[in-house]
Amino acid sequence: MFAWRSLLLASMFLCSESLAIAPKVLIVNMFTDEASAWFNIPEFNILAKNVTVPGLSPLFPQVHCTKDGSICQLITGEGEVNAAASVSTLVHSPLFNLRTTYFLIAGIAGVNPKVTTIGSVTFARFAVHVGLQFEIDAREIPKNFSTGFFPQGTTAPGQFPTILYGSEVFEVNDNLRQVAYQLAKTAESQLNDTADCVAARKPYAAVHNFTAAGNTPSVVLCDTATSDTFWSGSRIGEAFEGTTGVFTNETGTYCTTQQEDSATLNALLRGALAGRVDFSRIIVMRSASDFDRPPPTEDALTSLLGPAPGFPTSLLNLHIAGVKVVEGIVSQWKETFECGVKATNYVGDIFGSLGGIPDFGPGSLFGGKGAKV
Ligand SMILES: *[C@@H]1O[C@H](CO)[C@@H](O)[C@H](O)[C@H]1NC(C)=O
Ligand SMILES: *[C@@H]1O[C@H](CO)[C@@H](O)[C@H](O)[C@H]1NC(C)=O
Ligand SMILES: *[C@@H]1O[C@H](CO)[C@@H](O)[C@H](O)[C@H]1NC(C)=O
Ligand SMILES: *[C@@H]1O[C@H](CO)[C@@H](O)[C@H](O)[C@H]1NC(C)=O
Ligand SMILES: *[C@@H]1O[C@H](CO)[C@@H](O)[C@H](O)[C@H]1NC(C)=O
Repeated sequence: MFAWRSLLLASMFLCSESLAIAPKVLIVNMFTDEASAWFNIPEFNILAKNVTVPGLSPLFPQVHCTKDGSICQLITGEGEVNAAASVSTLVHSPLFNLRTTYFLIAGIAGVNPKVTTIGSVTFARFAVHVGLQFEIDAREIPKNFSTGFFPQGTTAPGQFPTILYGSEVFEVNDNLRQVAYQLAKTAESQLNDTADCVAARKPYAAVHNFTAAGNTPSVVLCDTATSDTFWSGSRIGEAFEGTTGVFTNETGTYCTTQQEDSATLNALLRGALAGRVDFSRIIVMRSASDFDRPPPTEDALTSLLGPAPGFPTSLLNLHIAGVKVVEGIVSQWKETFECGVKATNYVGDIFGSLGGIPDFGPGSLFGGKGAKV
């Protein structure tokens, strides 16, 4: 009797697992424009199969897939809470088996003109949760503070946080990042650019520190910073450059700015701990839509509220560069990707939850062995 019941349960489990969609690539977008960059493209039809997943954003209740389910797309909704909730929902959904799936975060972002320019497509090794800090209003800060933001548990900017929540820094597989970068590079000469973008770069390119902002769009290796607050300005840009340095022990490059990636990575880390995803199969791609600070000819508010000529270009370039990564993974699945691209760097969070010793922060909370779940 009991044996029969467990046999029945086991076969139901196997059955539902085998019906689950197991994409080779899951494209993770945050809002409509990023998502529609992948609609009506020549390479594949991501709208051939729609799967309603209970618990996703009411604005984006369906995961879109190609007919064979090899490529799918999640639209998380914007901001940290939407990203965390949507990614978590999908990761734990019985409708999907994401254990060997590659995650391609494909979003637009602000960009630091010291590193690159609008239209560029970047691949990050670190996602730094720069918004996770103490903050006092700039009008009330001590005279000798360079910014109102300072790490939790500290007494001033520039100190390492003594209170950690766990999402301060995520590090992804650098070998996979290099593979994705090389694939995207094959489309570098086709990246979109416009006369309006060229004009917008001019006042930056004239500044000694911002010469990188004067270049044409390229494919770049540099890191990303997350905050729910949509920040803009030279002072806050420099403050978060500092935060990125402190949180990553000066190994990360503050380059792109966005509102979700630390949240998405935290949800994927939880999924990895539950055996639902492989955290070494994540690619963090962000294309630059606007500068994170004004040129010297403009004030911060004008720059924030002004036109963003890089917006349509960054959306086009998500697809132009990103589709090379998607096609590369699908076409070289057996040879290169099915068994995984082995990471040789530390991969995971600041707590060492997945095992290994983080190469930033105070060390593993779990003696290098990872959390037992
Ligand atoms: C999937 O949903 C999109 C709209 O989100 C729609 O355009 C498309 O036709 C749908 N596909 C199918 C097969 O119903
Ligand atoms: C700022 O000044 C106060 C006292 O005047 C001092 O205790 C503190 O260390 C200074 N902080 C920084 C960041 O220099
Ligand atoms: C960029 O896209 C715009 C809008 O589709 C187009 O007019 C322009 O020619 C494109 N530029 C390049 C360099 O492809
Ligand atoms: C340019 O860089 C120098 C040295 O790194 C720094 O002192 C200066 O404030 C920077 N200027 C701007 C506009 O960022
Ligand atoms: C990172 O910097 C902090 C603060 O200086 C230090 O305590 C920690 O040991 C450093 N971690 C690594 C991996 O170097």
